[in-house]
This record gives sequence, C-alpha cells and structure tokens, in this order.
Amino acid sequence: MATRRSVAWDFVVVVVGAAALVFLVCFTWEADQYAGPPPPAPLLPRRPAPRGPPELFPPPGPLLDMPAVSFVSNTECFGERLLLAILVVSHPANAALRDAHRAHVPWEALDALGARRVFVLADASGAGQPEYPSVGLQQVALEAGRHRDLVVADFPEHYRSLTYKHVLALSWAAAFCPSAAFLLKMDDDIMVDVWALAALLRAGPALDAQGRLQAGLVSGGRPLARHEAWTAGLVQRGLRPQRAGGKWRVTQQEYAGHVYPDFLSGWAYLATRPAATALLQAAARLPPFWIDDVHVTGTAAALAGVPRYALNRHYTLLPSAAACCLDLSTRHGAPLPSPAPLCDLLVAPSGKNVTLMAAWLTAARRCHLEGVCPVTFPAACRATHLRQGVGTVIKLS
Ligand SMILES: *[C@@H]1O[C@H](CO)[C@@H](O)[C@H](O)[C@H]1NC(C)=O
Repeated sequence: MATRRSVAWDFVVVVVGAAALVFLVCFTWEADQYAGPPPPAPLLPRRPAPRGPPELFPPPGPLLDMPAVSFVSNTECFGERLLLAILVVSHPANAALRDAHRAHVPWEALDALGARRVFVLADASGAGQPEYPSVGLQQVALEAGRHRDLVVADFPEHYRSLTYKHVLALSWAAAFCPSAAFLLKMDDDIMVDVWALAALLRAGPALDAQGRLQAGLVSGGRPLARHEAWTAGLVQRGLRPQRAGGKWRVTQQEYAGHVYPDFLSGWAYLATRPAATALLQAAARLPPFWIDDVHVTGTAAALAGVPRYALNRHYTLLPSAAACCLDLSTRHGAPLPSPAPLCDLLVAPSGKNVTLMAAWLTAARRCHLEGVCPVTFPAACRATHLRQGVGTVIKLS
C-alpha cells in the first residue's frame, strides 16, 4: 500500500516535473526566438517577458478598424531631439533591400544627421502572395535582434494591408519616437538622398511664391515652421481610381469618387510631427481605403486640412533615370553642384535593384561626406525630371 502510494507519488512528481521542464524549455525557447506572444495557452500568461523593455510591448490596441494589434518585434528610436525619423514600410521577404539601406546609409551616417530609421513590417508567416514568399517569425526575430531596427505587427502581410502598415508607421513614430521633428515615410525599394534632405530641413524649409518647397526663404515666399502641420513630397493631382481589372483595381464600393484628392506618393514623403498627428486623428475617423497613400496623404490630409507641398522636381519615376545620374564624371573637391548632387534628385525608385540602390546611395554619400561629386549633369538626364510644382499631373503606368 505504502509502496504503491509512493510509486504513484513518484509518478506524479515525474509527470509534473517533466511538464514544468517542457513548459520552461518551450517558454525560454519561444522568448529567445521572437519577442512576441506565443499562441495563447491556458497556463501561460498572454505574453512572456519580451526581449527589450516592457514599454515596447504595450497590450494589444486598435489600429483603424482592427481591434487588437500587437507588436511581434519593436524597438525604440534611441535618441532625443532628433531631426528626422525615417519610417521604411517593408515586407519580411525584402531583407536584401533592408540590408542595402543599412549598408549604404549606415546607422552612424544617420546619427550624424540626427536621424533614425526603422523598417515597418507585418506578419508574413502565413500563406505567401505572388512575388512575396512566406517568412517565418523566427527569421524576422533574428533580424530584429541583430539590427534592432524592426517594428513588426501581428496582422497579416498583404498589399491590401498597406494602409494599416502606413498608419502603424506614423503611430509608431508618435508613440516611440516623439522627439523627431520630421517624419519621412518611405517604401523599402526607394532611394533617398538623406544628406540633401537633412540639409533642406536644417536650412529651414520655405515656400516660394508658387507654393513649391525650397531650402531657405526666397523673395515672395514664406517660411514653413516645423511646429506647423504640413507635408511635402511628390504631389499627385488628378489621378483616377483604376476601374479596369488587375491587382490594383479599385471598385466603386471601395472608392466611389471619380478622382482622388491631391495626395503625396507613398514612395517617400515628409511630414512634420503635428501633421502626422493630424493625419492619424483623421484616419481614425475614416473607413480605411486600401490604397494607402491616397487614403492617408489624400483623403485624411484633406479632412484634417493638412497642406501637401510639392517637391516634384526632386523626384523621378524611373530607375533608369536614377541610374543615368550615376554615369557622371566625378572629381574630388568639385563644388557641390546642387544641394542634391545626383541630378538634383532627393528621391528615386530602385526598381528593387539592390545594385542600383548601392551605387546611388554610395554616390550620394561620397559627394556629401567625401567631396567626390559630379562635375556636370549630362543633358540626357535632365529630361528625367518631373514638371515642377503643385498641380503637376503625373500619369502612372
Ligand atoms: C541594376 O542596376 C545596375 C546599375 O544601374 C544595372 O547595371 C543593372 O543592369 C540593373 N539590373 C537590372 C536587373 O535591371
């Protein structure tokens, strides 16, 4: 009897001990693999102690019409009194593009400008989309641990989730990087001359008489204060919803109007902190529309009365045009031909060409930091500029 009880007792002790060990191992493994919640289990707390300070992992909260979104990974912005927070909307599968940004505009270079950069992602661990394979959360967590520059939310990746990612990026900056005076929202396949951009912001952006953004005040213009709500980028005026078929088809139910409001291309645009706050407040009052730049910088900006200023002449729509600007003779000690030395461009698309991105960002950095600058612009690249000014109609193919 005593023996049987003790055997039974031993059995219980072994089972409980084994269960505790399994629990501990799983828990530790999970916590080590990714800093997010494990699948809810009755005996587990909803979220284990995440890697990083607990304030980076607030309880799940609403994001537009999604009631409970939480971070799988998060980071702080590391710094006070920053000039610029760069919010790069990315996809877990685009690690090569993120690495190109990190390699060619490294943390130290950003730090010298008073800038920080994070990549904003969602969860691609589910079924992949065409062009975008599924990526496990463990892999994303490894990258987050290595670089500490990922903001990863737990809603599924999809091109129809872009509005959520866009709003998440602005919300992240509001919550975790409140000291940055300006925000740059950009996509991961876009190249930005951050040195020229920072110079523009430090010089005191101003409007000229035609409402175009300039570095510094010109006669007939007015200065733009950083504590005012305004945005600037590639102004798109007169674009219409694409009603024909295809991935980007927009139905009448999704968007009833015939013409979109003026909006800024989501490739890359600047917002002051008050503008970002106003856009977030307006977006919270609107039913989400999945074309994110139209929705946030068009519909929400119009509702909030946030102006959108044109930097159109500093953008190109073609990777080949950006590549053209690299085929220039360079000379050490050549005067900076323009505040933005690569054909006066601040923003250009890479076409997801990592080689082009590396070359373009390197050329910008060498000119700004090493004084190895283009000597002249070949006439062939001049035609690549967009027409200037507010009111430019740009037809996207
Ligand atoms: C990528 O860019 C480089 C540099 O401009 C160019 O030589 C190369 O042909 C491009 N690759 C593709 C696939 O377009």
